[in-house]
Amino acid sequence: MHVYIEDIAKHVGTPVTLKGWLAGKRSSGKIHFLQVRDGSGFIQAVMSKAAVGDEIFATADHLSQESAIIVHGTPRADSRAPSGFEIEATGLEVVGASHDFPITPKEHGVDFLMDRRHLWIRSQRQQAILRVRHEVIDAVRDYFNSRGFILADGPIFTPSACEGTTTLFPVQYFDDTTAYLTQSGQLYNEANAMALGRTYCFGPTFRAEKSKTRRHLTEFWMVEPEVAYADLNDVITLAEGLVTHVIGRVLDRRERELKVLERDTSKLSRVTAPFARITYDEAVTVLKSKGLPFEWGGDFGSPDETALSEHFDGPVAVTGYPSKIKAFYFKPMDGRPEVSMSVDVLAPEGYGEIIGGGQRLENLDLLLQRIKEHNLPQEAFEWYLDLRRFGSVPHGGFGMGIERVVSWICGLDHLREAIPYPRMLYRIYP
Ligand code: 4AD
Ligand code: MG
Repeated sequence: MHVYIEDIAKHVGTPVTLKGWLAGKRSSGKIHFLQVRDGSGFIQAVMSKAAVGDEIFATADHLSQESAIIVHGTPRADSRAPSGFEIEATGLEVVGASHDFPITPKEHGVDFLMDRRHLWIRSQRQQAILRVRHEVIDAVRDYFNSRGFILADGPIFTPSACEGTTTLFPVQYFDDTTAYLTQSGQLYNEANAMALGRTYCFGPTFRAEKSKTRRHLTEFWMVEPEVAYADLNDVITLAEGLVTHVIGRVLDRRERELKVLERDTSKLSRVTAPFARITYDEAVTVLKSKGLPFEWGGDFGSPDETALSEHFDGPVAVTGYPSKIKAFYFKPMDGRPEVSMSVDVLAPEGYGEIIGGGQRLENLDLLLQRIKEHNLPQEAFEWYLDLRRFGSVPHGGFGMGIERVVSWICGLDHLREAIPYPRMLYRIYP
């Protein structure tokens, strides 16, 4: 019977068939130790000449890394095996040969691996990351779906900017129109929230970020909830709930993967709501007290974000950023219009901003004024302005970058490992 390695515990003592690939091999005279992987896990198959006969034993001797193989055998518990089980092989079929697989157990440079990303993802570590990513995405969907949110995705071809005109990717849209790849589904989310009350979109977003940092991709996945009749506080509470739900779910269901990644999970277990909440003004004071050369009005760089999250030893929700450094759609604070009703959630351990959002400007005249100040073409925003013409209400939401969260949870050095095929300033292959 064909079984998956992740289910092997249920089949101890009964003959099974594994369908997978050879991840590695060791031999000692009359025994081969085959590391078999099938996508669901890794297991060692122990093959003795006595059990399989000369011919199969010789075939196994010549197998090279990543050959596709079917292994017949009987699983047994083995406390020394990483998975707790091994399989005693009784048969072997070679389905697809593999010669000179380029990614060997030795160390390879990052560029070498990135050029072979389509093969690199077969490694145990990369598989673990992709499984955590899957769990994060599933937990996000579950969080919103179980709270009355309706998924309504925005378009990817858009006529205008959402997050500033400097990071737009233009696309020729038939003969005489330029479209832009979406930077955020937020503006459409706002329309959807006026229709559905609580809504979210979840898809790829694009930023022509010329910065070559560990935290920037040009294509990344973002989940964006938007809620009608919500204020800044409601937005922060929703964000805290989402982050703690996602962390809890991964800790609960992906222990094995986090172990492969050698992640110190005690730091993740300590993440509980409510998060530390500080204003931008207070953050500036904290940074200055730590001797950082930060002045009111600027945007935080990653050393600033790291210093803040270290100071609070956990995620921090920073509110009230200067209106000048935020997008046009933020509501200004009552009595202090130079400050916006915005919030960024900064992850601990130096992972920086994972969430950006806030309360939207619901007043038509002020919004028109902001669009002008930002030199945005009003015609392209007429539909968005309609939301302020027909039953405008206070509302808000946020965007959470999936790769930033995966990177933090997995403890990665760079976002490029948090997505199957990263797109960056100098990389669109494979
Ligand atoms: O802070 P941002 O730019 O906010 C927005 O786009 C809002 N319109 C969202 C909303 O309110 N609906 O982006 C939100 C999040 C960031 O906190 C970060 O996690 C992620 O998206 N992000 C990136 N991730 C990877 N690479 C990039 N270049 C990213 N830019 C933003
Ligand atoms: Mg932001």
